Amino acid sequence: MTDLVDIADVGRDPRRGGYSRHGFDRVELELREWFTEQARRRGLDVRPDRNGNLWAWWGAPGPDAVVTGSHLDSVPGGGAFDGPLGVVSALQAVDLLQAKGFRPAKPFAVVVFVEEEGGRFGVACLGSRLLTGAIDPARAAALTDPDGVTFGEAARAAGFDPARMGRDDEALATIGRFVELHVEQGRGLTVPVGLAASILAHGRWRYTFTGEGNHAGATLVEDRRDPMLPASRLVLAARRAATGGARATVGRLVPNPGGTNVIASSVDVWLDARAEDDARTREVVALITEEAERAAADEGCALRVTEESYGDTVWFDQALAAEVSDVLGGVPSLPSGAGHDAGILAAHVPTAMLFVRNPTGISHAPEEFAEAEDCAAGVVALATALERLAG
Ligand code: GLV
Ligand code: MN
Ligand code: MN
Repeated sequence: MTDLVDIADVGRDPRRGGYSRHGFDRVELELREWFTEQARRRGLDVRPDRNGNLWAWWGAPGPDAVVTGSHLDSVPGGGAFDGPLGVVSALQAVDLLQAKGFRPAKPFAVVVFVEEEGGRFGVACLGSRLLTGAIDPARAAALTDPDGVTFGEAARAAGFDPARMGRDDEALATIGRFVELHVEQGRGLTVPVGLAASILAHGRWRYTFTGEGNHAGATLVEDRRDPMLPASRLVLAARRAATGGARATVGRLVPNPGGTNVIASSVDVWLDARAEDDARTREVVALITEEAERAAADEGCALRVTEESYGDTVWFDQALAAEVSDVLGGVPSLPSGAGHDAGILAAHVPTAMLFVRNPTGISHAPEEFAEAEDCAAGVVALATALERLAG
């Protein structure tokens, strides 16, 4: 816990509670410096890749490496564990292995991916998507944050050239196997440590309703074209459509211009939808979109729908999971409702995820928690797995 305490004051959000740490913002850059110093202290050689991810190599970089790590950014007002737990556990697993005199027989690295949450630029797992070619680099560079700063501009300010971003076959070829440790984000784990079996199919859609801005007092109700009405109906449709284990969430809704006495001229609504597979996810989104179209027509508003990101169901490598479970003496395996960089890498290299029990099941909120004993068990499990894989 000392490493988590070390960064406990970095990026606290007094307004929302919890932490707001976003890709390439001042706070995340400070955390990256902290990571760099911590890794160097352990004798690791820190090298950023051209997509803004940080790699800390134990020994010389090379092919077929055993790689572990996670992310340091958060959602707006997020918890202390989602991301940082995997990074500090990786560093502490290195401590454990070094203390016992272990020398990796294979190349070995700890990686920190940039902008995993998409909390600033909207697309989750941006660093791993760029690395694997899962997003067009020109599109990534043009993504904007709420202040209108583009990812390309933020990357440049952080010392990266957006023109050099994009699929990095050289970096990808170094990864032999990837293991990410993460706090569990629901109540699915009743023992300290488990393994992830899969990740739900997941996408984000933006609905822009355009009506007519006007005066809240002077405009008769029957004369209005108020985009807030279809936006509200979309929120309700999301709940209605998410049946049978599917999830659909509106966590962000932005009226323009956003005044108490102003009928909005437009409203942007972001939908996060997830389900067991592609067909079911698409079905849920189609139901919601049909209702959004009806609601827009009823209010005389226009509607534009944009798919901002999408990823199909991920199944983690069964042989790797079996090997890790075996060396840990058998641990339960559970599906993940949350997305992860490991899910992006899984399409390219054998990938596994270790989960640490979350006693409340709360995540993406300040109350996210894991007991110190469970975190310690996670570090030991990660070290044990890495020792086996890199030994
Ligand atoms: C990331 O944590 C996500 O699943 O949204
Ligand atoms: Mn995470
Ligand atoms: Mn998260």
